[in-house]
Amino acid sequence: KRVAVIMGGWSGEREVSLSSAQGVIKALAERGYEVIPIDLTRDLKEFLQKLLQARADVVFMNAMHGRWGEDGCLQGLLEMLGLPYTNSGVLASALAMDKPFARKIFKDEGIPCPEGFVAERSRVMAGGIMPCPYVIKPLQEGSSLGVHIITDEAQLRDIEDTWEYGDQVLIERYIPGREIQVAVLGDRVWGAIEICPHAGFYDYTTKYTDGKAKHLMPAPIHPQAYQMALDLAKRAHDALGCEGVTRVDMRYDDTKGEPGIFYVLEVNTQPGLTPLSLVPEIVAYHGMSYGDLVEWMIKNPRH
Ligand code: DAL
Ligand code: MG
Repeated sequence: KRVAVIMGGWSGEREVSLSSAQGVIKALAERGYEVIPIDLTRDLKEFLQKLLQARADVVFMNAMHGRWGEDGCLQGLLEMLGLPYTNSGVLASALAMDKPFARKIFKDEGIPCPEGFVAERSRVMAGGIMPCPYVIKPLQEGSSLGVHIITDEAQLRDIEDTWEYGDQVLIERYIPGREIQVAVLGDRVWGAIEICPHAGFYDYTTKYTDGKAKHLMPAPIHPQAYQMALDLAKRAHDALGCEGVTRVDMRYDDTKGEPGIFYVLEVNTQPGLTPLSLVPEIVAYHGMSYGDLVEWMIKNPRH
């Protein structure tokens, strides 16, 4: 089977994508697949030529992260070309990447997420938009790029100087407690992992630097809470119409005792496959190797 692995792109997650792709290409080659890596650059004509010349049986999408590759754009192109590809389709990809839109659907479906709203950047940076602590996020980014937990509004001045994510900002109440992530593969939920950053929160640096966070698999939470996390993840995955692999990120407020309350932060339709990423770790706990995971995606594409 010929597999085109699309990677790179020009979002802020390019480096993460290249790291995911490295693992995927190696795993597929080891299993005898004919792998055609294709770097998505701004030279779209060249990209399209390579994609067509690849004559791929399936396009592996899960090494792409961020804008253009994970948000439905590329999925739309593949639909039009009639090429089978892994992970979610156009609509689910677009909804999952757009946090405010995903929140609207969660709300409709009764899936709890942190209280929040979208506001003009100038209004947010002026301060006083919500009592501290709160979280500010770009509307459409990954890997925690641009995410800040505001505990003191003096932080806003630096953020305003470096904010490169547009005129609108998502504001959410900060949920105390723990960071829980769940892997979903099609109809099956595979487990919940807890992430304990050694300092600060699970930001870009902590995500991709070895030794900056402890991963606890399975998450050492109340058994009833564990089941709640799995059920909620599946509901969030289904609410957005996701397919194939997703990772659902949540906060778990256990500050008033267990079982506590879960809040869904987001669904990732092409979650990281780097050496420090969580989906591979969650499925490995249940006996599915990295190679098995990648092969599962190839064998369960969208048609
Ligand atoms: N956006 C990164 C790659 C993740 O969700 O793992
Ligand atoms: Mg994300």
